Amino acid sequence: MKRIVVLFSGNGTNLENIAKKLPKDIKITKAITNNPDAYGIERAKRLGIEVEVIDHKKFSSREDFDKTLVNSIKAAKPHLVVLAGFMRILTPIFTGAVKNAINIHPSLLPCFKGSGAIKRSYESGMRVAGVTIHWVEEELDGGAIIEQECFKRGDESLEEFEEKIHALEYELYPRVIEKILKPKRARHPSKRG
Ligand code: GAR
Repeated sequence: MKRIVVLFSGNGTNLENIAKKLPKDIKITKAITNNPDAYGIERAKRLGIEVEVIDHKKFSSREDFDKTLVNSIKAAKPHLVVLAGFMRILTPIFTGAVKNAINIHPSLLPCFKGSGAIKRSYESGMRVAGVTIHWVEEELDGGAIIEQECFKRGDESLEEFEEKIHALEYELYPRVIEKILKPKRARHPSKRG
């Protein structure tokens, strides 16, 4: 069984979607949030997932928060750490200690890094939009890209645009997690067909 730790800050729809779509041999064994008011806490509880709240407001520095976060992650011994709407800027304390973390970002990186990406992408006038999954590295939203999905813009409203972005996220994130944790072995050419 492969263990995942999910980090989230808000609504938690990606957390719920991942929990529901992953195969039985990949489990979210812990979810961690920095926000005691995150609705995702309710979702996690409903799904029977252990949730830990590490309220960033109780720490005097980003580094102190990251130390506690790293300890909590390490205690769960995850095969993969999955950031799903985790709205904290991470320090080298985190990126130096956690090498197996991925993030989903609601734009076609390297465009629209940082917060408010959906609205900025919508208002940019670009004729394509999409989502990116990348490794978490020191630069915010700047780690190596693992996978992207995009769609061609129509004349959708911001709400419709957001729905399209989330639909791509819900399809892509579980698929990428499974691909990382259960890579398909290449078959010998003689066994093809
Ligand atoms: C998602 O759209 C995710 O891509 C975005 O936050 C949302 C979280 O929704 N993440 C970022 O913007 C990271 N920079 P959720 O809490 O319902 O999963």
